[in-house]
Amino acid sequence: MGEINRREFLKNASKSTLGLVTLSILPLGLAACNDKEQKMDTSAMANLGPLSEIEKGPFPKKVEYVASIKDAWVTTEQKGFVYVAKDEEKQELLFMSPICTHLGCSAGYADEQQKTEGMTFYCPCHGGQYDELGNNIGGPPPRPLDIFQPIIQEGDVYIAVLSPVERSRKS
Ligand code: FES
Repeated sequence: MGEINRREFLKNASKSTLGLVTLSILPLGLAACNDKEQKMDTSAMANLGPLSEIEKGPFPKKVEYVASIKDAWVTTEQKGFVYVAKDEEKQELLFMSPICTHLGCSAGYADEQQKTEGMTFYCPCHGGQYDELGNNIGGPPPRPLDIFQPIIQEGDVYIAVLSPVERSRKS
């Protein structure tokens, strides 16, 4: 769940000039907006930029964003980033949170030595290890990096930064 089939992704992207396009699963709270005749309010979401750019490699890659988060009458600006990975076997794009699933530090890219050991992402807090698809492969993290369900509107990819989706534990 939560992973994007590339064919469906591109098919939906081609329709996006007609208005809102959503992928198979919507973040909680956005289901009511799943109306292709209606534009969704993306102001509380992060715009990651054009799909045409995001789908270009090399992968995984870091994509930064600035999101305006509304809480009652207060709006704050939140900067962050996701890692976009491509599962070549399944032809799927993954939009992964960098937040380590152990205790919430930020996972960064592995160094050259760590890469030789199969790591792509490394959390320095307690030695968490993840592969290129964000699967936990060593150290204390209990599950893969969380992912975001992308929504495409007018060719841009949006994510709800407050609604990451957990993936099942990697055994
Ligand atoms: S917070 Fe990442 S390994 Fe502990």
